[in-house]
Amino acid sequence: MAKKLTLPEILQMKPQGRKITMMTAYDYTTGMLVEKAGIDTILVGDSLAMTVLGYDSTVFVTMEEMLHHTRAVKRGAKNTFIIADMPFGSYNASCEQAVMNASRFVREGGADAVKLEGGVVAAEVTAAVVKGGVPVLGHIGLTPQTVTQLGGFKVQGKTEEAARQLIEDARALEEAGAFGVVLECIPMGLAAEITKAVSIPTIGIGAGPYCDGQVLVYNDVVGLFDKFVPKFVKQYAKLDEIIVTGLEKFREEVQQGIFPDEEHSFKG
Ligand code: KIV
Repeated sequence: MAKKLTLPEILQMKPQGRKITMMTAYDYTTGMLVEKAGIDTILVGDSLAMTVLGYDSTVFVTMEEMLHHTRAVKRGAKNTFIIADMPFGSYNASCEQAVMNASRFVREGGADAVKLEGGVVAAEVTAAVVKGGVPVLGHIGLTPQTVTQLGGFKVQGKTEEAARQLIEDARALEEAGAFGVVLECIPMGLAAEITKAVSIPTIGIGAGPYCDGQVLVYNDVVGLFDKFVPKFVKQYAKLDEIIVTGLEKFREEVQQGIFPDEEHSFKG
């Protein structure tokens, strides 16, 4: 079993030119599978609002739900660095609120760090949480919690001004003490520029190959969520087909009296 990476070891990967791998996980089983696959870090993403809980936006998931899922992931992935996503409304009111809720993810959820969305606007809160003793991963570009303000799910940083703002956002997070920053849906040239502009690692999702690491959503990667598959997602498996085929076979065998047979029954 691989040793759990520490934060300093993760931070060493950028200067060493080693890519950081990150995958979302939402429960005990997925945590266990992601750890078994040797992925460096797990993000208990608020994307679970959509992929697991069936909401049509991430904004509906609560602190209690995120804690519940973080605890489950932790039980399945005891040897992986776990980052819990702070849900919408759990860090936006004040630095005190952010520090209190971030601490809950460590104390009650077993997380090693938290992620929160926003660049310059989130710098003060980021600094407060880091000062409060909880490592923070930033998240800029397409930030799903504020997608209404962004005008929908689209590529960010396409104008010169927007690109400049994103570079400023990344620098502000670095200065605030964030240990890394997720770049979501950003043109690959700009993502490369941001990656060069900061010393902390950039973790891309839809941001091309020049980031220091990559993250994807588990359900997308294994083909469990196909309502909408974004262009940047590579499906490495089609589990939905395998699962439905297995379930259909179970239904047929029960209906036909084939299952359970002697092999799957107790004698005596
Ligand atoms: O919630 C999530 O899964 C995320 C990733 C898309 C980075 O924030």
